Amino acid sequence: MKRENKYEVTSLDIQNQQEFIEAMKQYNLQEFAKTQKVKKYIVVTYGCQMNEHDSEKLAGMLQNMGYEETDDKKGADLVIFNTCCVRENAELKVYGNLGALKNIKKNNPDMIIAVCGCMMQQPQVVEAIKKKYRHVDLVFGTHNLHKFPELLVNVKHSENMLVDVWEQEGEIIEGIPSIRKYGLKSFVNIMYGCNNFCTYCIVPYTRGRERSREVSDIVTEVTDLVNNGSKEVTLLGQNVNSYGKTLEEKVTFGDLLRELNKIEGLERLRFMTSHPKDLSDDLIDAIAECDKVCEHAHFPFQAGSNKILKEMNRVYTKEDYLESVEKLKAKVPNISLTTDIIVGFPGETEEDFLDTLDVVNQVRFDAVFTFIYSIRQGTPAAEMKEQVDEKTKHERFNRLVSRINEICGEINQSYQDQVVEILVEGPSKTDPKKLMGRTRQNKLVNFVGDESLIGQIVKIRIIEPKSFSLNGEVIL
Ligand code: SAH
Ligand code: SF4
Ligand code: F3S
Repeated sequence: MKRENKYEVTSLDIQNQQEFIEAMKQYNLQEFAKTQKVKKYIVVTYGCQMNEHDSEKLAGMLQNMGYEETDDKKGADLVIFNTCCVRENAELKVYGNLGALKNIKKNNPDMIIAVCGCMMQQPQVVEAIKKKYRHVDLVFGTHNLHKFPELLVNVKHSENMLVDVWEQEGEIIEGIPSIRKYGLKSFVNIMYGCNNFCTYCIVPYTRGRERSREVSDIVTEVTDLVNNGSKEVTLLGQNVNSYGKTLEEKVTFGDLLRELNKIEGLERLRFMTSHPKDLSDDLIDAIAECDKVCEHAHFPFQAGSNKILKEMNRVYTKEDYLESVEKLKAKVPNISLTTDIIVGFPGETEEDFLDTLDVVNQVRFDAVFTFIYSIRQGTPAAEMKEQVDEKTKHERFNRLVSRINEICGEINQSYQDQVVEILVEGPSKTDPKKLMGRTRQNKLVNFVGDESLIGQIVKIRIIEPKSFSLNGEVIL
């Protein structure tokens, strides 16, 4: 994919966006005077925490414009789909749901439909929307999200679909209003984009080059969250281990963890994702030293075969990965490890797949996200000749998942009668009469308890381990 034009974003733009927010607010007030109805919006988010965070920004901007959130598309004046294209099924879901909006809009012709996010960074997707989804009013991308107020004002004055997608990222923009969905647990982006270009992955093309936020901006945001009731913060980036490389200040991810560990009132600090090629000894030391940093690392290995890892451009070997795991386990006792695995990457033989199973057997992960390789147009792996057939991919996938489930079940069984510390989050999703929380290792625990425990760190004895969660009782 070609990359052109460097877009400069200045503080003037941000002031301008404030003016557009104000203009929309005035417009909505006038509409309210006429109709006595507050304008409603819904943001539907697909994909990862990057998109979740962008949706919080969209919600923040909309609420400053006087919009109110609804969970019903039918009654909404504005529907935004924030899309993901990491695998084909993510895209198909968006197309399906976008198609369904056509009928809803027939009954509500004034409804504005906007689509944004990673899918829009692919020219062929924008073309498909222009041709087949003409009920869409606005298309924008990941790099100009801060311009949304201006685009929305322009949509109001435009008869045709408005499309504004920037091919390349600008500077990081701080200070966009945002609405936080989580009280107790919050997510904080410490960097954007990715420089790794794993050959299967679309993210570097949709999110641009890696940029790290300044330490001071992150510290201010986390402090602010803690002052507003957050107890646990997860630091986000496609590869947090390379944090700081784009900053003038000489600072590493380990330094950032040590800095955030000083924040009073913060109970737990998590992070994801860690790329194995950048796991330094200093970072392992920081995880071990910092009492707030939880004993859990999401550490994707993707494939066990050195041949496949090379073709994936992951820049580590199976042996490097296993060595890093050993170091982590030695320095951080009780660390739980989770990972991502892709099966059916082009050229993967039965022998290569057995290497993946071997890593699973050796490391014994606490949880694994398993994916069937999905061709992403524009990535190098899409052009590779030896694509694996669907039947083989599914057969390997099923074998992998059943082995992973066995191991996870065994690990959970080992928790029988153990005492764990959990942060109580709220009612259990599976049994509303119970409460739920997570251990520092990120294990889900359900238990009977009083609602006054929500937000507290509580000691629990595990009385019944299950395959994917643990049942426990409060220790008084
Ligand atoms: N930056 C993170 C992951 C981002 S995408 C990391 O490097 O770990 C989340 C996961 O989706 C990846 O870890 C990978 O396992 C999976 N994935 C990405 N592209 C894929 C593709 N084309 N097909 C199948 N799985 C894919
Ligand atoms: Fe994709 Fe690799 Fe970057 Fe993760 S590190 S986002 S898998 S290119
Ligand atoms: Fe995330 Fe999907 Fe984009 S995984 S970065 S929303 S392609």
